[in-house]
Amino acid sequence: MLGGLSSISDVDLKGSQRFLNSIYQLVECPGKERALDGGAGIGRITQGFLMKNFPVVDLVEQDRHFLEEAKKSLKPTNHRGQFFNIGLQKFTPENCVYDIMWVQWVLGHLTDEDLISFLRRCKLGLKPRGLIVLKENLTSSGEVEMDNTDSSVTRPHALVVELIKKAGLRIIKEQKQQRFPSDLYEVRMFAIQPV
Ligand SMILES: C[S@@+](CC[C@H](N)C(=O)[O-])C[C@H]1O[C@@H](n2cnc3c(N)ncnc32)[C@H](O)[C@@H]1O
Repeated sequence: MLGGLSSISDVDLKGSQRFLNSIYQLVECPGKERALDGGAGIGRITQGFLMKNFPVVDLVEQDRHFLEEAKKSLKPTNHRGQFFNIGLQKFTPENCVYDIMWVQWVLGHLTDEDLISFLRRCKLGLKPRGLIVLKENLTSSGEVEMDNTDSSVTRPHALVVELIKKAGLRIIKEQKQQRFPSDLYEVRMFAIQPV
């Protein structure tokens, strides 16, 4: 799931927890009831992080096998939430239900247009004060870089910011993931809210 880099998962989850904690220091912070894990894979983030913060976590994942694996490993836990087997490019959240929508390491599989329209639909799924967190690799070349093994792209910071703006959202906080191996792409978290 992490391209053979599962040892970074722990560092990643701790970095996410710190970022989430900092969001809850904000004056207008979101509630703590329901989260969405976008591009959830086998439920690594749901189980390792989101469930510790939210009593209900829904998962969206395009790959049926990954979602089945997530269901299986979450079954013996106290997980509450729904499983949506659909691509983010088609997913429309229920209106006004999520405090946090966590979308990590999946946007490189969407075209710019699909990413913008996905984020526009996500806005409607947020509760008042709710927010979306994007956590993604970024290129340092300033260019979009293609990964031919899985046909995904990695975007530069400026493009991610531009797409967020085009979707009618604003960045309220962003932070680089610390303690990742230096030969990996920079990873950044963006907390974004409707303008
Ligand atoms: C690198 S994994 C990351 C999984 C998870 N976010 C994590 O960090 O552990 C990318 C995941 O995105 C899923 N994915 C790829 N394209 C997708 C799409 N269009 N919509 C939803 N999920 C997608 C893949 O099946 C895979 O589970």
